[in-house]
Amino acid sequence: MSKIIVLMGAPGAGKGTQARLLQERLKLPQISTGDIFRALKDSQTPLAMEVREIMAQGRLVPDELTIRLVKERTSQDDCRNGYILDGFPRTPAQAESLESLATEQGNEIFPVLIDIPTEILEKRMTGRRNCPVCGEIYNVYFKPPKHDNVCDVHTDTQLAHRADDNPETVKARLITYEEQTRPLMNYYRSRGLLRTVDGNRDPEVIYKEIEAIVT
Ligand code: AP5
Repeated sequence: MSKIIVLMGAPGAGKGTQARLLQERLKLPQISTGDIFRALKDSQTPLAMEVREIMAQGRLVPDELTIRLVKERTSQDDCRNGYILDGFPRTPAQAESLESLATEQGNEIFPVLIDIPTEILEKRMTGRRNCPVCGEIYNVYFKPPKHDNVCDVHTDTQLAHRADDNPETVKARLITYEEQTRPLMNYYRSRGLLRTVDGNRDPEVIYKEIEAIVT
């Protein structure tokens, strides 16, 4: 049976950082719903404009669209041996759809919560920078690039700051998480599925623990 590794946690908890390590080392595709929505950034369709507005306000994109995109993406060939979900599910409807999807695909779900004190999250997000070429995630406080605002690998590329990583949107995203996504932890906990790791440690230490859970 193939595995669906589900990385859960508040905005800035380190889901993307861990998903990239898992993808590289376990050779499973990382599916980030946030990245899928951000990829619409240059599109001028009404739907893309609506998604951008929702993200700027720190709200959740409607379930119907999110679920449809995840179904489409996970039906692709590279997902046949399992995959990593980063940022999905975030609502009860999304969690139910994932359960049906796992049953249809003959996969097993491994939800892992990356737990972290709320007071650290703001610095994690406002300090975050990404390489637009390879997606590498940096942080001006916790993981600065070797040279100021330039990717270590793509040295001619300036790092980007996410539009929703400003203090006002960060605050809204944290509220959205508390109200709509945190209750899902009980959903998985009550089924005896949820494993929790302390996300306030070195990324490599956290990775080793997650790897031991999912392999
Ligand atoms: P999304 O892109 O998923 O954002 P998020 O959940 O808010 O999570 P982040 O990407 O901010 O953080 P992360 O946990 O991945 O942390 P990271 O590893 O980057 O979603 C964005 C938006 O899209 C949502 O607000 C919503 O509008 C929409 N959306 C997405 N999915 C949706 C869904 N399912 N349904 C509806 N709408 C959806 O790390 C953060 C920083 O900390 C980095 O700088 C990193 O270098 C640093 N760091 C990481 N780990 C450590 C560590 N151990 N120690 C020190 N620093 C660390």
